[in-house]
Amino acid sequence: MSLPKAELHLHIEGTLEPELAFELAARNGVSLPYADTEALREAYRFKDLQSFLNLYYELMAVLRTEQDFADLANAYLARAAAQGVRHAEIFFDPQAHLVRGVSLGTVVEGLWRALGSSEANHGISTKLIMCFLRDESADSALQTLRAATPYLDRITGVGLDSAEVGHPPVKFREVYEAAAALGLRRVAHAGEEGPPAYITEALDVLGVERVDHGLRCMEDPALVERLVRERIPLTLCPLSNVRLRTVDTLADHPLPAMLDAGLMCTVNSDDPAYFGGYVGDNFAALHASLGLTEDRLRELARNSFLASFLEDDEERRAR
Ligand code: HPA
Ligand code: ZN
Repeated sequence: MSLPKAELHLHIEGTLEPELAFELAARNGVSLPYADTEALREAYRFKDLQSFLNLYYELMAVLRTEQDFADLANAYLARAAAQGVRHAEIFFDPQAHLVRGVSLGTVVEGLWRALGSSEANHGISTKLIMCFLRDESADSALQTLRAATPYLDRITGVGLDSAEVGHPPVKFREVYEAAAALGLRRVAHAGEEGPPAYITEALDVLGVERVDHGLRCMEDPALVERLVRERIPLTLCPLSNVRLRTVDTLADHPLPAMLDAGLMCTVNSDDPAYFGGYVGDNFAALHASLGLTEDRLRELARNSFLASFLEDDEERRAR
């Protein structure tokens, strides 16, 4: 689907395709516990979020140098451009690299090699969102925010990802307050596997402007009413939900009901190398499995620009 669109929920580490993983492993002398790309793809049968995260963190071992991060981002941008993406707000997980001895500077400078020339090379404007791992401590998140001080001119906002259940948003109140004081925009994953109460908490305690996933809001009619009233965008990821068993099949996805309820929905790819498709593939799958009409798809594409952190003049150029 080449409809012009913005992608607002995309983990750059989740764009690591098996072929690039093996190429980077060879380049960096890292050994992977898979014989080849086929054997690796065999491991892409997830039973829940955690089973995916285990592989996601394991494969990051191949990302070591600035050039690795640049190559990763360029590969994503080329694929995204081919699917109509004009603007991308890209998550990265600094703590997952810091623990492996890869500095924040390596990650940000590396990504910037690709993002800094993305408009010229791929016709895609970009923004970076630094995520905190919610299964790490609040103190670790604060230290990460402090370590990002030299790079704040390149970072638009903060997010919250990784294992959700048992790690409620309130755990990160302090770091989100500090991020807000620095002028950073705020988003958080909530209501993917976690309960609707986590969505409410992300809004009320963390002050998020957008909710990543937010799928489980549908279990709480009063919350749906609030999200509609306040026009809080949700960044849905349908193929991700199927692969991580949040929904049984795409045909069971609540997206049509969510649109009918008046929710401000957007469609995104999350971790496209792992979940069977990039954002255009998500749009195409919605059309094929849920019969979403062209008008509905256009509405979703329009929402993606409205829900973005683009300024008005930037948004006009991107569309
Ligand atoms: N959910 C939570 N954390 C993540 C995801 C996800 O889908 N992808 C990468 N980190
Ligand atoms: Zn995600």
